[in-house]
Amino acid sequence: MRPLPQLRNQQLPVEVMTLTHAPILETRSLAWPDEAACAAYAATLARCPGLRDAYVELRGALGAGKTTFVRHLLRALGVQGRIKSPSYTVLEPYELPGLAVSHFDFYRFEDAREWEDAGLREVFAAPGLKLAEWPQQAEALLPTPDLRLLIEAVDETRRSVTLQAFTPRGQELLR
Ligand SMILES: Nc1ncnc2c1ncn2[C@@H]1O[C@H](COP(=O)(O)OP(=O)(O)O)[C@@H](O)[C@H]1O
Ligand SMILES: [Mg+2]
Repeated sequence: MRPLPQLRNQQLPVEVMTLTHAPILETRSLAWPDEAACAAYAATLARCPGLRDAYVELRGALGAGKTTFVRHLLRALGVQGRIKSPSYTVLEPYELPGLAVSHFDFYRFEDAREWEDAGLREVFAAPGLKLAEWPQQAEALLPTPDLRLLIEAVDETRRSVTLQAFTPRGQELLR
């Protein structure tokens, strides 16, 4: 298998992967001792009214818990049935009553033409919640996030999480 360039990032601390130059307006740290704590924070975030039109980035190495967090968030928002990882499809869309949710995983995103061809520009222009794993892979195309989650595995179940707000809406989500 051809080595993927982003695998190099996994040797770096999460902070070094923070390449977006927009200023961080506010930061908050969380410690999740186990997956139940991840689910509890997802449920808290799901209750924020500002989430419905937010763009939330998820960063962290493979296995950190990005997809797991999104699954808990989608469940808390009312998604039923199987929640697939979009790692092959780039985008998994969900239609909830009055809320469109787009879950992206740009891990395998290589060709900027895909952005236009798959209608990703339209998704970002439309209302709805956007969640993106591996935004580094489509950095030039993506807008500044409202909120970024940096998830770092401390051990099997413990996660150290940094929340960064880049917009007033993101700050609202930190409350
Ligand atoms: N506190 C925790 N928060 C999130 N995931 C956890 C936690 N503890 C253990 N896990 C496990 O870690 C794994 C994370 O995998 P996944 O969410 O696919 O990672 P990523 O999408 O970041 O590559 C899952 O098997 C999940 O059950
Ligand atoms: Mg994932």
